[in-house]
Amino acid sequence: MCGIVGYIGPRDVTHFLLEGLHRLEYRGYDSAGVAVSSLGGIEIRKREGRVSRLAALLEEQPVSGLAGIGHTRWATHGVPSDTNSHPHTGGNGEVVLVHNGVIENYDSLRTQLQGLGYVFRTETDTEAIAHLVAHHLGEQIKLGSDINKDTCLKAVTLTLGRLKGTYGLAVLFRELPDLIIAARNGSPLVVGVGKGEYFVASDASPLVGFTDQVVYLDDHELAVITADNMDLQHRETGERAPSVQTLDQVSTDTDLGDFEHYMLKEIYEQPHTIENALRGRLDDDEATAKFGGLNLSAQELRRIDRIVLTACGTSWHAGLVGEYMLEEFARVPVEVEYASELRYRNPPMSDRTMVFAITQSGETADTLAAMRECKRKGLPTLAICNTVGSTIAREADGGVYLHAGPEIGVASTKAFTSQVTVLALLSLFFGRMRNLSYQAGKRFIYNLKSMPEVITKTLEVHEKVKHVAEKYAHANNFLYLGRLYNFPVALEGALKLKEISYIHAEGYPAAEMKHGPIALVDENTPSVFIVPKSGIYSKVISNLEEVKARKGPVIAIACEGDEKIAKLADDVIFVPDVEEYLQPLVTAVPLQLLSYHIALHRGCNVDRPRNLAKSVTVE
Ligand code: F6R
Repeated sequence: MCGIVGYIGPRDVTHFLLEGLHRLEYRGYDSAGVAVSSLGGIEIRKREGRVSRLAALLEEQPVSGLAGIGHTRWATHGVPSDTNSHPHTGGNGEVVLVHNGVIENYDSLRTQLQGLGYVFRTETDTEAIAHLVAHHLGEQIKLGSDINKDTCLKAVTLTLGRLKGTYGLAVLFRELPDLIIAARNGSPLVVGVGKGEYFVASDASPLVGFTDQVVYLDDHELAVITADNMDLQHRETGERAPSVQTLDQVSTDTDLGDFEHYMLKEIYEQPHTIENALRGRLDDDEATAKFGGLNLSAQELRRIDRIVLTACGTSWHAGLVGEYMLEEFARVPVEVEYASELRYRNPPMSDRTMVFAITQSGETADTLAAMRECKRKGLPTLAICNTVGSTIAREADGGVYLHAGPEIGVASTKAFTSQVTVLALLSLFFGRMRNLSYQAGKRFIYNLKSMPEVITKTLEVHEKVKHVAEKYAHANNFLYLGRLYNFPVALEGALKLKEISYIHAEGYPAAEMKHGPIALVDENTPSVFIVPKSGIYSKVISNLEEVKARKGPVIAIACEGDEKIAKLADDVIFVPDVEEYLQPLVTAVPLQLLSYHIALHRGCNVDRPRNLAKSVTVE
């Protein structure tokens, strides 16, 4: 969370900083700020709220200079406020920096620095870093050194050695207005290389249109940047030659088009994004799927006798769908692990276990840590990821990209259906390697190919969903209930509602409801039943009747032509009938729309819900 940018070179510094912050705003939007250094000193402009408020401030009070840094904040330490906004100043203003991450020992550093006379003006952990850099710089000056590139680098390096936690940092020095030092540990950072200019950013999106040459910093690395040079250093092992890569496939397709919100735009993109996930990956002749980046031989893949899927939030829900599919078609035992748990657990895993980290952003701190832990144990560890060039995509042994394009709405929609599509492809792939027949593979492919069109058809429910949303928008509690493939969809539907409308919602396997949650049912608590045609349709209907018997209002997501449900439920949203394992792709869509419209009715900011950020780069 939090996004940082930096620029040094001949362009209008604030133009790049603001453009970059707009593109990184998905990482946090509690406040935004910039610092620009010139021969006259460092000027700071910062404001609580969105980047647009900072842009307005810069119109009133413009700044220009040789180099600059910027930040968009997701608050961790200290409330969102002008004062707590980055950039932060160290000493008497000789150091100014922006930070993405969390400093775990900031409290003791703060006490030590206060003891040395440093005055803290904010509640942030970051201010301790700024004062520490100023302190280590001051110590060298006391010993007779000048302020130059080397002393600044030494001050930052000494500071980093005292930090416990994670950081992506960009630092300016008042006495050296043409210098930026950037550093990374645990929070992503990329340097864009231009002609006579350099760019710094938390991910590659701000660089698009400015440069396609990039250097990804690894943990414990620092970049010492002037307009015409960059030195890369490892904090402990010294200098390393920067490996410049060409950026490809990073899209900044962030145009809203005719849509009012990114979330709605992304819901509507799903026929197209599912098609992109399938493109080039179906092998009709062999009735299987094919992947370019698994980086394992057929022999190695055949040895796999267990799959672990690890992820957070919506991506974890996609993993649950994947578990059901992989076990049914590939007959491989699958476990789905919360990455935040897996990173600290030590479950037995043999070298025949394969791990997939599922992530839209490729930067989720827990997913990254869980993936690293599995890699450390020598397991083949792959990523199912949307963001090209993200840390997880780069560190994984191999993987599959979603190709869904940038997901800007904080509530994940198209990434979920793309993840499910990729997991379906993997189920086909592993299934055909094991015991899935040629005919079954053919049928699987036929069904997958039909999905973009089926989802287009599903989107026709929009008007109906709007009415249902209006009717139930006042409710303060919801239950979401489904079974088998639609149990993860129930969890996902409930998560969508919670995060953007702030309504309490619980997702449950429909039959499990009797073991507790049924106590919540009353005439004010709607239950959303996901009850398309399936082998256990009549069982779900019984669960639905149990809710009706307790006067609970029922909204059903059911298959077109299901007349029985129309008589039982208070409201029905009909969706196309597809094979059970592909139902999550279809049933998720009306639930995404339902949460979107309920949130609108309640006056919530659907694209920027409170307390959340798109990319959770802190633990
Ligand atoms: C919910 C949502 C989050 C993310 C989770 C993992 O709508 O977006 O629950 O799914 O933070 O993020 P990624 O997939 O980027 O690792």
